[in-house]
Amino acid sequence: MIARLLLPFGALAVVATAMAQQPDEARSIALFREAGKVLQSPRCLNCHPVGERPTQTDRMTPHVPFIVRGADGHGPAGLPCNACHHAANYAESGVPGHPKWHLAPASMAWAGKSLSEICQQIKDTARNGGLDMERLLDHMAKDSLVGWAWAPGGKRTPAPGTQKEFGDTMRAWADTGAFCPPD
Ligand code: HEC
Ligand code: HEC
Repeated sequence: MIARLLLPFGALAVVATAMAQQPDEARSIALFREAGKVLQSPRCLNCHPVGERPTQTDRMTPHVPFIVRGADGHGPAGLPCNACHHAANYAESGVPGHPKWHLAPASMAWAGKSLSEICQQIKDTARNGGLDMERLLDHMAKDSLVGWAWAPGGKRTPAPGTQKEFGDTMRAWADTGAFCPPD
């Protein structure tokens, strides 16, 4: 029901928090679908690709110049991400930047996956970098590389809402049982 209402991004979290926090599968799934608007935005998917290459722009085309993940996500030896991606967005060239700029590992690939699959894998400590729920929520709400998605520079479309609203939505999802969509 709630998912069908046309509410501004983040409003679902406010609604859910105001109500008693107890397992509620339908509400939890509605909250995850709301959060999915961020998780499946080009800003996140470009760095969480399937395969060895990042993608770029709102159309998520393969990264040009050609670049691969490398052993640790920082690019191949000799051409690390930070050769081009500096500590901050660079307006002149349009190259986005952040001090920790690198590619998410293959186990955290989201591009082309269903929301159900993304949900299962971000909860799975074997695939999410060993994050328990509290640390996962903290990462979503506060990590500054995640936060880049709301200030991406250039002509890139920012992720919906704010990072705080996204964090609140994820927390409300967890508080209602962290259920995953069936599809
Ligand atoms: C030789 C320079 C160069 C290297 C090395 C490089 N990039 Fe890029 N990258 C660029 C340029 C230029 C753009 C901007 C393209 C545009 O959007 O106009 C870009 C854009 C991106 C974007 C798109 C952001 C978005 O949402 O539109 C991602 C993601 C990205 N790079 C990831 C990486 C990662 C991860 C590495 C290392 C594995 C890397 N890049 C290495 C030059 C580089
Ligand atoms: C510049 C690349 C980049 C961007 C943009 C990015 N991530 Fe990530 N993400 C990573 C890397 C790298 C990791 C691996 C952990 C680390 O080294 O911080 C990661 C890990 C994660 C994790 C850990 C759990 C898992 O299974 O993936 C979450 C959650 C996450 N990112 C959420 C997001 C969200 C949400 C967005 C968009 C709002 C986003 N990321 C955008 C690079 C990125």
